[in-house]
Amino acid sequence: MAKVKTAYYCQNCGAAYSKWQGQCNTCKEWNTIAEEIIQKEDKKTWKSDKTSKIKAAQPVRISDIETTKEARLKTLNQEFNRVLGGGLVSGSLTLLGGEPGIGKSTLLLQIALQLPYKTLYVSGEESAQQIKMRAQRITPNSDLCYILTETKTQNIFKQIEDIQPDIVVIDSIQTLHTDYVESSAGSISQIRETTSELIKFAKETGTPVILIGHITKDGAIAGPKILEHMVDTVLQFEGDRNHVYRILRALKNRYGSTHEIGIYEMQSTGLREVLNPSEILISKNTSPLSGNAIAVSIEGMRPLLIEIQALVSTAVYGTPQRSATGYNAKRLNMLLAVLEKRAGFRLGAKDVFLNITGGMSVDDPAIDLAVVAAILSSNEDILVEKNVAFAGEVGLSGEIRPVNKIDQRISEAEKLGFLKIIVAKHNKIGLKNTKIEIVLISKIEDLITELFG
Ligand code: TYD
Ligand code: MG
Repeated sequence: MAKVKTAYYCQNCGAAYSKWQGQCNTCKEWNTIAEEIIQKEDKKTWKSDKTSKIKAAQPVRISDIETTKEARLKTLNQEFNRVLGGGLVSGSLTLLGGEPGIGKSTLLLQIALQLPYKTLYVSGEESAQQIKMRAQRITPNSDLCYILTETKTQNIFKQIEDIQPDIVVIDSIQTLHTDYVESSAGSISQIRETTSELIKFAKETGTPVILIGHITKDGAIAGPKILEHMVDTVLQFEGDRNHVYRILRALKNRYGSTHEIGIYEMQSTGLREVLNPSEILISKNTSPLSGNAIAVSIEGMRPLLIEIQALVSTAVYGTPQRSATGYNAKRLNMLLAVLEKRAGFRLGAKDVFLNITGGMSVDDPAIDLAVVAAILSSNEDILVEKNVAFAGEVGLSGEIRPVNKIDQRISEAEKLGFLKIIVAKHNKIGLKNTKIEIVLISKIEDLITELFG
């Protein structure tokens, strides 16, 4: 009988040790090192039954390598395609992470059901009946979607060889286990081994594989960091569970940019794609309120109008509170200091709350101007005129700085019926004959004049 071999792995970063220790030398986390059983003997590739001699790779001249345009399988989900950079690249491994209950399984099942290709949806989390019930809520039946409830990779590969699917979805990587590693499912060595088997399968057959991954309470994808290094694309599905909107982002993408986002709305019939997000992010308030301003931000290539709400009130307790939802709190403090120092507003003794509606989180500096406008509007209790949008960064000396893609921002505001947009004076605007009035300002004082006359 083969001797049982064990090793110690950091459960956070995957570093290996020969004995236990309290702190991981690599990621400096405490108490993350655990013993796992490994077995190096009899290790085989994903095709266990075929004892084919693996050909060693040969070096080739780069000029001799034929370039084939990466074949992409387009899903019918436009937002998903956009985030991936145009569709699933064949032979690629995509990892989708997100909090429990956010809708990862729903999203992938929905995509699988709509696909015009043969899809194998492997679930280690739910029974086939549960998946069927969910599928019935989402969309009519599909003849091309196969469900397999199995967690052992060897069995999964056996089924794959029978069915020959065009796309494989694994829900989730933490439930898989392989025969060649002894430790329990979800442990570092299992995750690493099952993922590398799947990578071999994907690369050898050209089948795209999508993995669902759990995340830890700090928001990182559970399992070793190397899981993220191993796959080609890492997507994150996020959003507030109390809100209906969900955002899909690429954190890593070997075949496209990581700037794109996809927006979905969770409905009782599954996830609806939100193709014109600006419309939903602006609340359709009939009676405007002070403290609201509209910013034109850019996410990836898409302009996005978002509503900023501020509430400024006299502090009840000694220390004033500052809180920001969806916006960097340090940046809020910086803007408040600028308003205090450069424009003479006494905000030091006031509570300031800032909220970006729709559960969005934005780090585009171009929304500074709208943040300042919302704060001033709430502080003075004067409405920001309806149909005015803002796009500009605010610097430390109170200057308004230019932002990128200004033409796109202006066009989007115009398209959505805004009558006026306030931007930095030094922004080079290429647009001609716009119906929207473009107001150029260079300092905070100009903004104050513009807002309050
Ligand atoms: P799920 O896909 O199971 O989340 P995850 O796989 O990320 O853990 O999503 C579950 C949530 O989505 C659940 O709270 C109910 C909700 N939901 C809807 O609102 N509408 C629907 O049509 C479906 C299928 C789920
Ligand atoms: Mg799930």
